[in-house]
Amino acid sequence: MAIFKFTKENLQKADEILSKYPNKQAAIMPLLWLAQDQNNNWISKEVMDYIAKFLSIPPIRVYEIVTFYTMYNKEPVGKHLIQVCRTTPCWLMGSDKVLSACKKKLNINVGQTTRDSKFTLVEVECLGACVDAPVIQINKETHEKMTEDSVIQLIDSLN
Ligand code: FES
Repeated sequence: MAIFKFTKENLQKADEILSKYPNKQAAIMPLLWLAQDQNNNWISKEVMDYIAKFLSIPPIRVYEIVTFYTMYNKEPVGKHLIQVCRTTPCWLMGSDKVLSACKKKLNINVGQTTRDSKFTLVEVECLGACVDAPVIQINKETHEKMTEDSVIQLIDSLN
């Protein structure tokens, strides 16, 4: 596997990000987000170490951020990362049924990836769109007012 480093384009983006913050360490989160995007939607130890070196900070400062926030994937994920919100408003509106429909359709459990590496299914806390519960997020896009039928249609539409 190739050693991780920002592409030329992302180095430029990283510079733009750094220019918006008062100090380098404050830019950890957006830089990790950029790195995750470049690294097939997950952050390996190698990526974390790269960011630490990039910012000239101790690696632990990066590890603690990555392991705390669920928005950073610590393992490889499928092409489509399906995140089902399980917080109370979504649960009251049927997120458990949406989740069951996903599990049945994909034949995987929460935390698993389909054999073809196309889908990963996870549960997450509030996605910030409770008014339209139940909510799911697939990669960077949220989908509201989901039902068992609509989530299956949505999965069918993804390639
Ligand atoms: S509780 Fe599900 S989006 Fe807020």
